[in-house]
Amino acid sequence: MSQLFARKTVDQCVADSEIGGGLRRSLGPLQLTALGIGAIIGAGIFAAIGTAISGDAGHLGAGSAIVISIILAGVTSAFAAITYSEFAAMIPISGSAYTYAYATLGELFAWIIGWDLILEYAVGNIAVAIGWAGYFDSLLRGLGVAMPRWLVADILTARHDPALLAAAPHLGPIPIVFNLPAFAIVAVITWLLVIGTKESAWVNTLMVVLKVGIIVLFLVVGLTYIRPEQWTTPSFAPNGFKGISVGAAIIFFSYIGFDAVSTASEEAKNPQRDIPIGIIASLIICTVLYIAIALVITGLIPWDKLNVPDPLAVALQYIHADWAAGILALGAVAAMTSVLLVFQLGQARIFMSMARDGLLPPWAARLHPRYKTPHITTIVTGVFVALFAAVAPIGVVLELTNIGTLFAFILVALGIITLRRTDPDRARPFRTPWVPFLPILSIGFCLYLIVSLPLLTKLRFIAWLVLGAAIYFAYSVRHSRVRREGEVVS
Ligand code: ALA
Repeated sequence: MSQLFARKTVDQCVADSEIGGGLRRSLGPLQLTALGIGAIIGAGIFAAIGTAISGDAGHLGAGSAIVISIILAGVTSAFAAITYSEFAAMIPISGSAYTYAYATLGELFAWIIGWDLILEYAVGNIAVAIGWAGYFDSLLRGLGVAMPRWLVADILTARHDPALLAAAPHLGPIPIVFNLPAFAIVAVITWLLVIGTKESAWVNTLMVVLKVGIIVLFLVVGLTYIRPEQWTTPSFAPNGFKGISVGAAIIFFSYIGFDAVSTASEEAKNPQRDIPIGIIASLIICTVLYIAIALVITGLIPWDKLNVPDPLAVALQYIHADWAAGILALGAVAAMTSVLLVFQLGQARIFMSMARDGLLPPWAARLHPRYKTPHITTIVTGVFVALFAAVAPIGVVLELTNIGTLFAFILVALGIITLRRTDPDRARPFRTPWVPFLPILSIGFCLYLIVSLPLLTKLRFIAWLVLGAAIYFAYSVRHSRVRREGEVVS
């Protein structure tokens, strides 16, 4: 029983990361901050903000009070960013929260968090790929090219659309409906990541410059059209605090990603200093941009008109800045491309760390002999994400990602409190202030957002954890390296 909570020492974690010659260290502070922004600005602010403001059949909208939702989600993320930074500087290896849990809360928790992070990274990427396809489609339409709708839809949503079903080709009685662009972009990203991190980081930096530029364009064009009375028509918060909370639980998706910086620790030149810089700087930059976007968009267009796949573009069309709407669609596509890159990079590295520990089969830890990338896990992740992106509706996957990430944040905060007691003297290049007060506050904010998510999402999340537990007891328990080699510290 006590073996379930067996821990690895921090030194053991670091030593393990050097097995096999390690990854290539090529990233500095600017690139790491760009990696963070690359992961953060994407489907959340370009797509999900629409539902968060206007609401839909299953959600109350926040209205103009979305700015409060954005601040609440930002504060939740800021607490988590601080706790992640302490761990990332202390244990600068690529497993992120998974590794931190192994060193603090023990193997069972490490497995739970590793399994849970699949929701953040791989399932998150499914949502982003679908968002990508939505904006790619509107970009093509803007250029006068219309793809058949059955090639940019998912079958679950299409079920309620008789016209779409009638237009789709059939295989016997079965209509063929799938999201081709979502599938294709994941395939391209997978290929890029197999050939190398340095190249991917370069592409990422380019995308980041483009998307920040597009957001600035949105703000500048929008600013001159803001009508302040719009903020309070019919009221600032049409659905009260409930609407604000639901909005925060959805828009939280737009912040996810700063923690992904920590998965690149083994590729950072000076991880102890630069990973905290990358995490915190990227979060601050994005929070400022998001607050500005919230103020501008709700000053441009009535709050109930934004339940669309491309709300920022629709807001620009509303003020007849169609030229800017077209450019914005291009920027959104670039933005989501870089999110896909960083998350898939992170997922493959988390799998790699789990395989090193024996919790996943050994082939998952192998590095490509020439490119030095974890190519097998990259390809496995790519296939999983691409297949689901072709068939899943965005809302379901987005909420699962949020609950999974919030849960990971809670475990990381618990880990900080635990390690301060079990290993108080270890050098901490970055220290979380006010322990345990700040981590407890972090847990409180995460729980508040989890509670604000729909019941069905919570049930799906529990089902996911149960499936993970089944795999752990069927496979990982018997292959764990910590158990076999007696590297137990508890
Ligand atoms: N924060 C990322 C996005 O919004 C996941 O796309």
